[in-house]
Amino acid sequence: MLNLAVFVSGRGSNFQSILEAISSKVLEAQVKSVFTDKESCGAMEIAEKYSIPVYSISNTDKPGFISYKEVSELLLKQQVDLIVLAGFLKKLPDTVVDEYENRIINIHPALLPCFGGKGMYGMNVHRAVFNSSAKVSGATVHFVDKIYDNGKIIAQEAVDISDVGSPEEIAERVLKIEHKLLPFVIKKISEKKVVISENRVIVH
Ligand code: GAR
Repeated sequence: MLNLAVFVSGRGSNFQSILEAISSKVLEAQVKSVFTDKESCGAMEIAEKYSIPVYSISNTDKPGFISYKEVSELLLKQQVDLIVLAGFLKKLPDTVVDEYENRIINIHPALLPCFGGKGMYGMNVHRAVFNSSAKVSGATVHFVDKIYDNGKIIAQEAVDISDVGSPEEIAERVLKIEHKLLPFVIKKISEKKVVISENRVIVH
C-alpha cells in the first residue's frame, strides 16, 4: 500500500480523482495527509469530507500555518512514500526535494517542456496555449526537481484543440485528461512499474 501526501492550492478536482481511484479500488494507496499554502480552498473541504488531516503551510510565522520543517517531520512520521502535487502552485523548498528525490510528482496542464516554468499555472497556461495558436495541448505528469516544471516526464496525453474558441475550452478538455493521467501514474508507481533509465522514464 502506497502512502501518499497530496499538496493542493485550489478546487481539488485532481485530488478528488485520486480519492475516487482509491475508493473504487483501482488504486491501492492511502492519502495520509493534505498540505496547502492556502487558509481555505475547495481541496481542503474535500479532505475534511474524507477525514484526511489537512495542514496549511507557510514560510513565515503565520498563525494556524506550519513550517516546511514541520512538513518534513510529518511526512516522515506518516511514512509517506510519494508526494503528489495536485494543483499546488508554490515551489517546494530544495530540502524537501532532496529528501524525496524521485518521490515527488506534479501534474501540469500542458505538454511540457512547452508552456511551463514560473508563473505558468492554471488558466495562465491555457491562455498561453490559446494565444500560441497550437493545435494540440494535453497534460504531463513529471518528477519534481529543483526547477519549475523541469523534472523527468513520466507520462503525457495530448488532446486536439484545433477547434476551440477560448482558453476555458482548452482547460476543460485538458482537465478530463488530467483526471485519468494522475491516478494512472500513481497506480504505476505503486506497482513499481515506473523505472528511471538515464534521462528517460519508462512506464511498464
Ligand atoms: C490543474 O489543472 C493542474 O494541472 C494545475 O492546476 C489545476 C488544479 O486544478 N496545476 C498547475 O498549473 C501547476 N503548474 P484542481 O485543483 O481542480 O486539481
